[in-house]
Amino acid sequence: MKKKLIAGNWKMNGSLATNESLLRAMLAGVGQATCRVAVAVPSVYLAQCQALLAGSVMELAAQDIAAHEAGAYTGEIAGSMLREFGVRYAIVGHSERRQYHGESDETVAAKAQRALGCGITPIVCVGETLAEREAGKTVEVVKRQLAAVIHANGHCVSEIVVAYEPVWAIGTGKTASPEQAQQVHAVLRAQLRAASANADRIALLYGGSMNPGNAKALLSQPDIDGGLIGGAALKAADFLTIIAAAA
Ligand code: 13P
Repeated sequence: MKKKLIAGNWKMNGSLATNESLLRAMLAGVGQATCRVAVAVPSVYLAQCQALLAGSVMELAAQDIAAHEAGAYTGEIAGSMLREFGVRYAIVGHSERRQYHGESDETVAAKAQRALGCGITPIVCVGETLAEREAGKTVEVVKRQLAAVIHANGHCVSEIVVAYEPVWAIGTGKTASPEQAQQVHAVLRAQLRAASANADRIALLYGGSMNPGNAKALLSQPDIDGGLIGGAALKAADFLTIIAAAA
């Protein structure tokens, strides 16, 4: 059985002081986690967090990656730069980037491709808004978002991680029920199987108000291979409880 992946997304939170105390508390409790564990930190703190996590089971992730290799792209951070700081995963297409930075399915696909080209595993986020869910468009939306990534990445698609994050569940305290999440994960799994003979090795994460109270039920679903955690990843005790639920 493949190991589950629990990834924390700190979003735009933290400081030198709080990062250090948070990571030290997590490292003290994580022990020999039987799942994979990663934290996606703001880019300016990659060096600090790389040093704090050195030699531990916890891996480093970036929250975004440039779609280009290098050059005149003010403000962007290239995959090659992220690699220099030991970055193992990069989130791409988070709904906050799609919403506030106008990232299209094609941009997200290009970012996933750049990540793979640099030896970084993209965590590709897909998910519907509340309006889309209420209009019965959930499957159509997530399949369209994933199709762009499959199209751009061909057989390499078996190297990605996918995170289903219903937009209406992010930061709202409203979680998709385990059954609702599983339904969408099964759709995504079938789409990946149709695209790659190695689809079963792809981790499908759920994200959206995952917390210590609901993690176990979500993580026990057959097609839920881990979690992408926002708010609860900023509290060591909560994050550690979710890691334990994934064991
Ligand atoms: P919350 O866990 O705070 O809902 O955030 C989920 C998320 O967006 C992770 O990327």
